[in-house]
Amino acid sequence: MKSRPICAGVSWVGAIDWDRRLFDSLIPLPHGTTYNAYLVQGSSATALLDAVDTSCVPSLHEHLAGVSSVDYLVSHHTEQDHSGAIPFVLEKYPSCTVLATQKGKDMLVDHLRIPPDRIRAVADGETIDLGGKTLTFVHAPWQHWPETMMTWLEEGRILFSCDLYGAHMATAELFVEFGKLEKAAKSYYAEIMMPYAKLIRKNLDKALALAPSLIAPSHGPLHREPSLIMKAYDEWVSAPPRNLCVVPYVTMHGSTRELVEHFLCCLAEQGVEAEGYDLTVTELGELATSLVDAASVVVATPTVLAGPHPLAVTACYLANALKPKFKYASVIGSYGWGGTTVNQITSLLSTVKPEFLEPVMVKGYPKASDYAAVEALAKTIKEKHEGLE
Ligand code: FEO
Repeated sequence: MKSRPICAGVSWVGAIDWDRRLFDSLIPLPHGTTYNAYLVQGSSATALLDAVDTSCVPSLHEHLAGVSSVDYLVSHHTEQDHSGAIPFVLEKYPSCTVLATQKGKDMLVDHLRIPPDRIRAVADGETIDLGGKTLTFVHAPWQHWPETMMTWLEEGRILFSCDLYGAHMATAELFVEFGKLEKAAKSYYAEIMMPYAKLIRKNLDKALALAPSLIAPSHGPLHREPSLIMKAYDEWVSAPPRNLCVVPYVTMHGSTRELVEHFLCCLAEQGVEAEGYDLTVTELGELATSLVDAASVVVATPTVLAGPHPLAVTACYLANALKPKFKYASVIGSYGWGGTTVNQITSLLSTVKPEFLEPVMVKGYPKASDYAAVEALAKTIKEKHEGLE
């Protein structure tokens, strides 16, 4: 794979990981990913913006084959998918200095054992002149981790946005039509950015104020119509949740499934959009994406060992940790002789703190009064959603 020119003096020199299927041993990557790195060459100095994942050093090595000097390595983010190859770059270019935020410097020392004297902390708004290419560093904490920053290249109006605006999508194309990219970008937002949505609002405003002509994120294709991804982020972060009820469910002998099927039909009859996710087969990324817009989550689970099924526990843990904006929650399901399923699920959603609606827990197989109870729950959800705007 050759490096790819973006504009005069700016090239993509990253790596494509076609085969990776799991990130952080947690996030599914159905379409692989890229680790984007960019080379910016001025008349007097050269900067490499990010390195690549440790596993992709050979790719970076190939891209840098004809590059005689790299004066600066800008580290936007310490996570190893962008910093893993920094030791290789520092060995190849002994006079290269790493530029990062102060937190980034500390973390590069901690995580990669990079000698502190090879790293210089840059201030928010600080610029370096490469000779006809001016880089400005924009501190942007929590674009995944607390140390993150972006880089603005005035000549070309390019925003190198770190993890923000990225997508896990392996492609050899620099640009992909937004319609083909949006689903992957939304999943990426849900999995990586949503927990920090409130914190990154300021960063989104900083990016909007720069009015970039091009956004070059750290994963996936670049955005040559930045308004499309910026508008999408604006909605994902700030728009109120919509009239959508997500129902993650698991069943053991069919009682809970019977309730779920009836409940999903009741929601449809009430005009509430409903999405059911069978937790035995649903990828966590798919469930996370559904939570970006949902106003309600109703967890459906049988009672196992006096509590929710472990798959329901995992789904609740995820829903709580990702901090989506749903406002209402409930539990439906079944039990044989007792248990504390509802209380345990309520505790698991303690960060999101939704308003809990009357649960429907059924002893054994549902009977007429149980069907009526889920109908009433669907009606309540409809009424609650009418007050969303
Ligand atoms: Fe792409 Fe947070 O690393």
